[in-house]
Amino acid sequence: ETDEQIETILSKLTLQEKAGQLNLIPIEGEPTEAHLKMIREGKVGSVLKVNGVENITKLQKIAVNESKSGIPILFQEDVIHGYKTIAPIPIAEAASWDLEAIRKSSAVAAREAAVSGISLTYAPMVDISRDPRWGRLLEAAGEDPYLGSLVAAARVKGLQESNENGKNILSCVKHFAGYGASLAGRDYNIQDFSERELRETYLPPFQAAIDAGVASLMCAYSAYDGEPLTANQFLMQDVLRDEMGFKGLAMTDWETIKNLVKTGVAENDTIATINAMDAGIDMDMNSEKFVSLLPVLVETGKISIEQVDNAVRRVLILKKKAGLLTDPFANLNIEEEKKELLSERNIAETKDIALKSMVLLKNNKHVLPISSNVKNIAVIGPMAKATKDLLGWWHCKGNENDVVTYFEGISKKFENAKITYAKGCDIDSFKIAGKDLIPKAVKTAQIADVVILVLGEEYWMSGEGGGTASLHLPGAQEELFEAIAKTGKPIITVINAGRPYILTNIDAKSDAVLYAWMPGTTGGTALAEILSGEFNPQGKTPMTFPYHEGQIPIFYNYRRTSHRFVPGLTDNRYSTTYRDVQNEPLYPFGYGLSYTSYDYSDIELNSKEMTENGSITATVKISNTGKVKGTEVVQLYIGDKVCSVTRPEKELKDFTLVEIEPGETKAVSFEITPDKLMFIGKGKAYKKTIEKGEFNLFIGKNANELKQTTFILK
Ligand code: IFM
Repeated sequence: ETDEQIETILSKLTLQEKAGQLNLIPIEGEPTEAHLKMIREGKVGSVLKVNGVENITKLQKIAVNESKSGIPILFQEDVIHGYKTIAPIPIAEAASWDLEAIRKSSAVAAREAAVSGISLTYAPMVDISRDPRWGRLLEAAGEDPYLGSLVAAARVKGLQESNENGKNILSCVKHFAGYGASLAGRDYNIQDFSERELRETYLPPFQAAIDAGVASLMCAYSAYDGEPLTANQFLMQDVLRDEMGFKGLAMTDWETIKNLVKTGVAENDTIATINAMDAGIDMDMNSEKFVSLLPVLVETGKISIEQVDNAVRRVLILKKKAGLLTDPFANLNIEEEKKELLSERNIAETKDIALKSMVLLKNNKHVLPISSNVKNIAVIGPMAKATKDLLGWWHCKGNENDVVTYFEGISKKFENAKITYAKGCDIDSFKIAGKDLIPKAVKTAQIADVVILVLGEEYWMSGEGGGTASLHLPGAQEELFEAIAKTGKPIITVINAGRPYILTNIDAKSDAVLYAWMPGTTGGTALAEILSGEFNPQGKTPMTFPYHEGQIPIFYNYRRTSHRFVPGLTDNRYSTTYRDVQNEPLYPFGYGLSYTSYDYSDIELNSKEMTENGSITATVKISNTGKVKGTEVVQLYIGDKVCSVTRPEKELKDFTLVEIEPGETKAVSFEITPDKLMFIGKGKAYKKTIEKGEFNLFIGKNANELKQTTFILK
């Protein structure tokens, strides 16, 4: 449908100005004269890495008042989990399984970014990943495409439509597609998987983001089937636009047009630019090839003017959606900015999701919550007083001075107890450092009633380029742990990390283990509220936690094989198993404890048979058998017993959060609809289909603790 305002603007642009609209450049620090010249000449359509009302106003005035076209710049930024008030890292938020809390958290980020002049963020990142060595998994929702899809939609809505007018920002879903399959967990490495895998695992969260109305999309650094995404016509056109119905703007990742030359698929920048345009890329991030080469490519007939016009239209549509074509200065108000950043409401909503994100992995003999009678608490560990490490790699404008440390949170909450502190060791890169601090930490533990041992990784160890081969806690932390464990004192281990670590020994020797992830600005307060019992933990793992590094990749929904490993069977030699370590993970997908306990009844079905046009209802009764109120994440999995392609034993198909009072029993029902039984059928057409027959249906606490029944699709 034609938009008159946009067509009028387009009709007045020179070819060079059109190419300029497609150019996205970073400006780090003070803009140089060269930057300003480009803006005046209409060669910059969008800018990243400039933020704040003051800085943005300056540049916007130049674009609007001093360039011939007067088209405002679209300011973009990596607002990944917060702008100034930093929320838990996205993998942590996914551990809440609370879509409403996730939506709200994205809305906080949008409000703060919008009043700071940002119009678009490179979020959500929706890459499914099954390898904890890959540093970027912290930005997405874990291993499961179903959970990943719901989280993706919640984030898009939170960013784009949750706030009052003017305080939403446009979302750019990334990285299309398959980047999370980086081989061996090394960032920017190759990915190689089948089209079936692409469609079953990697595409669904993108589809969910598209269905939620995402405005733009970033292609991955990686290649699919040998063709880099930046030049991949099959994925960027046939799949993304024709099949998946994406109508928004597609941009490259950082320098990926130039990278086509580096990877050896294009002989030179000219060919790279043609290939990117032909693949349907609209915006060039930091290669500056569209702006410099498109005019001549159009003049020489290598690229058609229609291709360029279509791309410019998409840029202008974004600018219009962001309100820039009405009033580019509407959001640029220093007073509003001051009021919104770190506002009470933003802090409160961020703390809410921080509480819901933490996962209780072990709690022996109710060592948690810590009783108010405890007199001496030792807080030990290199993460206890960490600040930036709670914010994570993508902390945008988050300031470490605004972080409530774990130590501060604990000291404030347990004000009647004596709190002692020892660092225990350093985390100096990955080197063993600060072992000389261990004896003092041991002494501190010996005089305490309980030890809170806060271990983990520093913020830069995960995130982009944050691959690690070892998943043991870096530095001397495991040695510190051993020394503290030998004191015999009750140990509550808290982990600050952006990925699942191997906690096999730590689990065995701790009394309680709590995964705090990287919980953001309010992390210390949230942790203290959980340790004191003021908040009953409810998070569940969005990724399988390996027992041993050699098990990686380990995830719950792998396809069935003929030589299936059967837990408990003594002779498992001819099965897909290891001979030296257990096959099962340390913690399965969907796992997390609470301060209360839940009993699940058997599953009741309203009918054992359903038809392709009908549905059935599955119900379980869940009783809170403990002493405190809790919220349980109830999970539904389905597995097709016989199917024309190999399928997982079970796949997550629904879940719900249910709050239950102590002693209370609540019935939880799920509707089983035909779409939950569909899969990508046999053959190269990759069409969604449904096959009649018997299905397993599971409901329970996590992917391993499930009640089971069966039903038939007639
Ligand atoms: O948004 C990021 C992307 O995820 C990785 N490359 C750089 C982009 C912009 O900072």
